[in-house]
Amino acid sequence: MSSMNIASSAGSARSFIEIDSLEKTFHARGAGARGKGGFKAVDNVSLDIERNSIFGLVGESGCGKTTLSRAVLFLDPPTGGEIRIDGIDMRTLSASRLRTFRKRIQIVFQDPNSSLNPKMSIENSIKEGLNNIKYAAGEPERRAKLDNRVDELLALVGITPGHKTRFPHEFSGGQKQRIVIARALSVEPDFLILDEPVSNLDVSIQAQIINLLLELKEKLSLTYLFISHDLNLVSYLSDKIAVMYKGQIVESGNTERIMAEPVHPYTKKLFSAIPGVTRIDEEQELVFHVDEPGYSEGLPEGYCFYPSELAEGEAQASPQMLEINDGHSVACFEA
Ligand SMILES: Nc1ncnc2c1ncn2[C@@H]1O[C@H](COP(=O)(O)OP(=O)(O)OP(=O)(O)O)[C@@H](O)[C@H]1O
Ligand SMILES: [Mg+2]
Repeated sequence: MSSMNIASSAGSARSFIEIDSLEKTFHARGAGARGKGGFKAVDNVSLDIERNSIFGLVGESGCGKTTLSRAVLFLDPPTGGEIRIDGIDMRTLSASRLRTFRKRIQIVFQDPNSSLNPKMSIENSIKEGLNNIKYAAGEPERRAKLDNRVDELLALVGITPGHKTRFPHEFSGGQKQRIVIARALSVEPDFLILDEPVSNLDVSIQAQIINLLLELKEKLSLTYLFISHDLNLVSYLSDKIAVMYKGQIVESGNTERIMAEPVHPYTKKLFSAIPGVTRIDEEQELVFHVDEPGYSEGLPEGYCFYPSELAEGEAQASPQMLEINDGHSVACFEA
C-alpha cells in the first residue's frame, strides 16, 4: 500500500492529452458571469489519455459527458482548468492557431442527422472540411485532388464512392454515421472524441460501426475518447476507463482492474447491471446515496466515500482522487 497517495492533479508529462482540473460552470440566463454560484456541469475533472489508446468515459445521462467533450474541443470553452495536447496548453493559443490546432481533434456525435446538412450532397459535406486544406496545385489539379480524396475517404469507411452525389436522406442511419466519420477524418485528425457514436443505431449496426472504428484506429494511428452510458461497451473497447457522476470522476484506471475490482459504490452500481461482472450484494439497495460506513469498503483506513461519514465540522468541500493501486484512482474524502 506504499504506492498509495492522493493522485496529483497534474498529469504525466508524457500523455498525449492531459485534462487537468477541468471545470465548466453554466450560469442562469441574465445572471451574467458574476451570477451567483452557477451550475457546475463539469467539476474538477482530470484525465490523461495516452497516444493510440482508447479512453472510455462512462456515466448516466446528464452527468456532463457532452459538456466535457465540448469543453475539450474549446467549442464551449471551459471555465476552469487546463487542456494540454502534446504538452501545449490550449489556452495559450491565439485564435488562428487554435483553429489549426483544433483540426487535430474531431468529434462524432450520437445523431448523424444533426451533423450532416440535409441539403448538401455527401460529397459536398466532406469537401467543406477539405476546402480548408491547401493543395499546392492549380485549379483543375486541385479539383481532381479533392475528388480523389473524397473517394478515398468514402472507401475508407465502407461507402461506395459512386454514391457521393447522393443526399443524406438516401442513406441508412449506420451509413450516415460512416459518412460523418469520413468527414471527421478528412482533416487528418489524430484524436477523435466519439460521443455516444452508436447509441442511435440498431444493435446489429452498432457492432459494424464499432468494428469500423477499431479498424480505423489501427490504420490511421488514432487516439479515441469514447463516451457512452453503456459500461459494457466501454469496458469492451477501452484500455482505460473513467466513471463520471454528477460532473465529477468517481473512479478511473485500467479497464481490467476496474472490472475485476470496482471500488466506488457508483461504479459497482453500474457494473451490477452487467451479467458476469462483479455485482454488489443483491440485498443492497441500488441507490447511490447511502451513508452506511460499509460502503467505504476497499478504501484504506482514514478515507470514506461520503462526507456524512466524517465527524461534523470535518467535511471537505469536494472529494479527491486517491490512487489505491497503480493507475487506479477513486474519489473519496480524507477522514
Ligand atoms: N448550455 C447549457 N446551459 C445550462 N446547462 C447545461 C447546458 N448544457 C448542458 N447543461 C446541463 O449540464 C448537465 C450535463 O449535460 P450533458 O449534456 O453534458 O450530459 P451528458 O452526460 O452528455 O448526457 P447524455 O448522456 O444525455 O448525453 C445537464 O444537467 C445539462 O442540463
Ligand atoms: Mg451527451
